[in-house]
Amino acid sequence: MSKLNHYYEGHEAEYVRRINAGHVGWDKGGYDEFFMKPFVARSLDRSGLKRQGGRALDLGCGTGALSCQLAEANLDVTGLDISATAIGFAKAIAEKRDLRIDFAVADIVRDPLPTGQFDVTVDGHLLHCIVFEEERQRVLEKVRQSLNGGGEFWVETMLLENGQEPDPDWHMDERGMVWSRIDQGDQYVEAQCRDGNWWLPQRLIARSQEALLAEFLSAGLTAVEVECYAPLAPLTPGGFRARLVAADGAG
Ligand SMILES: C[S@@+](CC[C@H](N)C(=O)[O-])C[C@H]1O[C@@H](n2cnc3c(N)ncnc32)[C@H](O)[C@@H]1O
Repeated sequence: MSKLNHYYEGHEAEYVRRINAGHVGWDKGGYDEFFMKPFVARSLDRSGLKRQGGRALDLGCGTGALSCQLAEANLDVTGLDISATAIGFAKAIAEKRDLRIDFAVADIVRDPLPTGQFDVTVDGHLLHCIVFEEERQRVLEKVRQSLNGGGEFWVETMLLENGQEPDPDWHMDERGMVWSRIDQGDQYVEAQCRDGNWWLPQRLIARSQEALLAEFLSAGLTAVEVECYAPLAPLTPGGFRARLVAADGAG
């Protein structure tokens, strides 16, 4: 069988499963209570975009809760996701809410992004789904290039809390990659067969805030505001959130 899919394309099957089970998105909070909402609300205030408006790009928008929040704050929003099912759902919800949002299916690792156009590009929990160093660098460079002069990047991503030990069930390797056992791996480019079992990388949990900031800086992004948060539930990692801008002041 030819290997057709990249590891992150497994999100499509997961959206089909979740939507069939009656969920409205990745985040259990739905459209009004989702996890990133308070951070984005604060960032809209602090960046001045709530007053000024502008153009926003939502990366890994899923079923569009964050895109709707940005559009309701009067930003002109583009939402991109690898999952056709999630994008179809997002379009239907936006229409119901009478919001004009430009949703499209895209692979943020491999497809080009528009350049120099956005007042804010938001990582909607996409970055921790991209596990390989070279791919993450490529994505972060595209993020920097997507910004206009003065544009901001808002990111929230998984980070081991200071002193936190990875749970053995995460099967986390020394690079921070979390692996899951899957039934059939031969349709995934990056799946590995070990001891008769198929494994697929699923998430990257950063080991330190310094490592994340260095990763952003080598893509030309520097932080203006940083916050780390503790695990929200047992057996989950902590997190990191930040507002960043282009280090050279350009978009
Ligand atoms: C953890 S989910 C978060 C979804 C949504 N932002 C939310 O908060 O509910 C990560 C999202 O990134 C998308 N994704 C993963 N890899 C991607 C890629 N290479 N290109 C575009 N989207 C991707 C997934 O389909 C999924 O919707």
